[in-house]
Amino acid sequence: MNLHKLRKEFPILHRKINGRPLVYFDNASTTQKPRSVINAMSAYYSRYNANIHRGIHTLSQEATTAFEQVRDEVKTFLNARAREEIVFTSGATESLNLVAAGLEKLMKRGSEIILTEAEHHSNIVPWQILAQKTKTRIKYIPLTSQGRPDFGTYRRLLSKKTAAVSVSHASNVTGVIAPIKKIVRAARKTGTLVVVDAAQSAAHLKIDVQNLDCDFLAFSGHKIYGPTGIGVLYGKKHLLARLAPFKYGGHMIAKVTKEKTSYATPPEKFEGGTMPIAEVIGLGAALEFLERIGFAQITRHEQALTRYALKKLLAIPGLKLLGPTSTDSRLPIFSFTLSGIPAHDIASILDSFGVQVRSGHHCAQILHTKFHLEASTRISLGIYNTKSEIDSAIKSLRKTHELFRN
Ligand SMILES: Cc1ncc(COP(=O)(O)O)c(C=O)c1O
Repeated sequence: MNLHKLRKEFPILHRKINGRPLVYFDNASTTQKPRSVINAMSAYYSRYNANIHRGIHTLSQEATTAFEQVRDEVKTFLNARAREEIVFTSGATESLNLVAAGLEKLMKRGSEIILTEAEHHSNIVPWQILAQKTKTRIKYIPLTSQGRPDFGTYRRLLSKKTAAVSVSHASNVTGVIAPIKKIVRAARKTGTLVVVDAAQSAAHLKIDVQNLDCDFLAFSGHKIYGPTGIGVLYGKKHLLARLAPFKYGGHMIAKVTKEKTSYATPPEKFEGGTMPIAEVIGLGAALEFLERIGFAQITRHEQALTRYALKKLLAIPGLKLLGPTSTDSRLPIFSFTLSGIPAHDIASILDSFGVQVRSGHHCAQILHTKFHLEASTRISLGIYNTKSEIDSAIKSLRKTHELFRN
């Protein structure tokens, strides 16, 4: 992979921040966009903008073809069995809300839901709302000191009462990759549905939903070098058919009379109203970008960055990492505390050096509470990051440490 050439595809990477070259280390929040994504969206608006599905005219047909082609591309990206298993949503959050809300009628008295203590709020709150509505209970898989879900406890929590287990494929705080196949295998014995939040993993790992055998999987376009406002829910065909619709309106219907409405089949059943057409087209360009590089190269480059970053970070006096200090089964996401310096102060000083990192609870308050923290600082890397950018961040962190020591 020619990193220099790849970086040239991202116009923003040439920016300066506070007079310094931009070091973008907030990829877990959102990634930067390659020119191909920006151009694809601009081409839609400037050449074939029209609403989809309902038009006979040329522009509508061109837009519909481009839109539906992306569904095929997502099917290939995830190795789903059928294009009908791909639902477009506004993002991972909406995908998870859709599943949780859609399961309401399928919950029984005494049903239970299992989550882990590492979940993003988007994979907690929708389940809490479902639990309140259906009087079901949520149980949490505890994390080990290294931030990994305790598999033994998971097995003990699982029972015939467990309706669903919903876990992040990778944590947005610790970068820990969960053993989804093992989680699914255990869940099969109790007839439990498995929902995977792939918001963080989708840009870094090759996802094969048939191999994982999960029932639902969610991700967002903007975290995989695509636009905001678009996401995907994958669901096994027979399960999507059983879920209640999430939004009601145009396009999601089969027949409307004065008295009642029957619904279209999935995926249309879940795609009421005008869809984010430009964003779907942008997502298609992002998938093409990822596939052009290939996950073998992405993994190789990001693992090298992970090894390098870990070594350098752990050598900083007073720095404590949340989660694993090893390179096994993890993404290039590093959250840490530094000698009691407030996380926002660290992020602000790093910003003065052009280094963009996130500080706060990263929408994972349960995880932070577990580690007796309110906040941490997070460095999260992407495909275009370099070792010399890590050096810049490390230098800035060391300066931050010195500033506060004096
Ligand atoms: C693990 C995880 N799940 C879900 C989400 C929600 O994604 P979005 O805000 O794109 O819907 C995020 C976003 O940071 C995340 O990191």
